This record gives sequence, C-alpha cells and structure tokens, in this order.
Amino acid sequence: MNWWEIVGITTIFYYITYFVIPWFIDCDINLYMKEKFGRPLNSLQGKVVWIIGASSGIGEHLAYELAKINCKLILSARRDKELQQVRNNCLKINLQLNENDVKVLVMDICDNASHKKALNYVISQFDKLDILVNNAGRSQRANWEKIDLNVDKEMFQLNVFSIIALSRLVYQYFTDKNSGKGHIVVTSSLAGILGIPYSGSYTGSKHALHVCILYMHIVCYLFYFKLVILYLTKKKIFIGIF
Ligand SMILES: NC(=O)c1ccc[n+]([C@@H]2O[C@H](COP(=O)([O-])OP(=O)(O)OC[C@H]3O[C@@H](n4cnc5c(N)ncnc54)[C@H](OP(=O)(O)O)[C@@H]3O)[C@@H](O)[C@H]2O)c1
Repeated sequence: MNWWEIVGITTIFYYITYFVIPWFIDCDINLYMKEKFGRPLNSLQGKVVWIIGASSGIGEHLAYELAKINCKLILSARRDKELQQVRNNCLKINLQLNENDVKVLVMDICDNASHKKALNYVISQFDKLDILVNNAGRSQRANWEKIDLNVDKEMFQLNVFSIIALSRLVYQYFTDKNSGKGHIVVTSSLAGILGIPYSGSYTGSKHALHVCILYMHIVCYLFYFKLVILYLTKKKIFIGIF
C-alpha cells in the first residue's frame, strides 16, 4: 500500500467514525462507549447534583433517574411552578428522599452576575457540590439568511457563554474547595457534531460549545498531569459533553 492509499483510507475511516456512526448510535462515540462499558448509574448514589434546565425535557427526566438512586438534587431553571412539580415528582419516585434532599433554585443562567450567589446557595444547602449538569438550552429554526443577528446572540448567550461562565466558577470551586474533585456535564447535541438543516444559529452555538468544552477538557487534563508531577496530588475533575 502506498502513502496516498494510507492517507485515503485513514480519511474515509475518520469520516465514517466521526460523521456516520453517530447517526446510528444516536450520540457521540465517547458517550456510547461510556454507556456500554462505563460505571453503572448507581455509582453516583448520594452525590450532590445541580441540574440547570430541570423544569422540562431531558433535565426533568435526568432528575427522576438521579432521584431513584438517592442523589441530592438542586433543580434550576426560570419557571418556579414547573420546578416545584419536578421536585414533588422526585420525592414521590423515591420515598427514601426527604424534603431537604431536593431543592429548587430559580435562576436565569443568562444572568452571569447571579452565578456566584447561586453557587453559594447550593453549597450552603448541601455543604458541597459534586456534579454540575449544564442542560439549559434552546433550539431554533429558520432560513439562515433571514435570521436576525439578535437571535444568534441570544442563542450563543444561552447555549455557550452562560455555560462557560458557570462552568469556570464551578471548576474553581472544585479545585479550591472540593479537593480537586468534581464533574461538569454539558448537554450538547448531534448538531454540535454534524449540523442540522435550517438551524444555523443552534448548530453554530452547539459547535462552539463543543470546541470550548473540548479545550477546557484538555486544560484540565494537562493541569491534572502537571499537579501529579509537581505535587504528587490527585486531581479528579471530569468534564463530559454529551
Ligand atoms: N430534545 C432534543 O431532541 C435534543 C437533542 C439534542 C440536544 N438537546 C439539548 O438538550 C438540552 C435540553 O433540551 P430539551 O429538549 O430537554 O428542551 P426543554 O424541554 O425546552 O428544556 C430546556 C430547559 O432549559 C431551561 N432553560 C432555558 N433557558 C434557560 C435560562 N435562560 N436559564 C435557565 N434555564 C433555562 C428550561 O427551563 P425554563 O424555560 O423554565 O427556564 C428547560 O428546563 C438543550 O441544551 C438542548 O439543546 C435536545
């Protein structure tokens, strides 16, 4: 096999694994492997989990799954009534949970100035935070050339900047006050890998989110190794984008 054949086969293989397989497994390959071969859900038992975007959809149902395994939950979004309903459902799903195990914190994640106060509230309720789930997000559909620039800005503010701002704050909390341990989870989309027709702003924001979080991931691992080498300290901050 000559050099150009190797390059050609590698390119085809790359596109198949990166662009074709996700259509069939309905998630990225990393998540698929973690689901098949990773630790079971109940390894999260007793963890303190803060879900942003818990009032409906994926965040709501994630709350129910975590409630079943005795996680302590902080449910955040803008709609109080819906959050209270999700909280009540969590308490009904698992009768071992008591009133203090599931809290509601109404917040607009786009208000970056409120993040520090919100994080302090979470820690004041449970003495610690183990996992931040950045699930708040919004989709959009339109012909690309007709999209008002304000729509792009709002989409990026919610789907990208607010998530980065809060994640940085929580990352600092993990390193400074939680013995270097914690998980940051980000709900992305296949739009962040492949793109979706007529969803230019959404696709752009989820692609940007992927790159920003990937970079944060790299920084964390470098930081981890640096600390291992310099101080023989174990740091365990995991960042996942799904
Ligand atoms: N559904 C899908 O097929 C799909 C596919 C791929 C990825 N996703 C991603 O999954 C995530 C959840 O989507 P979903 O389908 O479950 O949609 P959803 O039911 O509309 O849930 C979105 C959640 O985000 C919250 N939210 C929106 N703006 C917010 C803000 N400014 N501050 C705080 N919370 C805010 C909403 O609550 P409030 O309105 O009460 O604030 C709601 O709880 C999104 O990031 C989305 O991009 C969804």
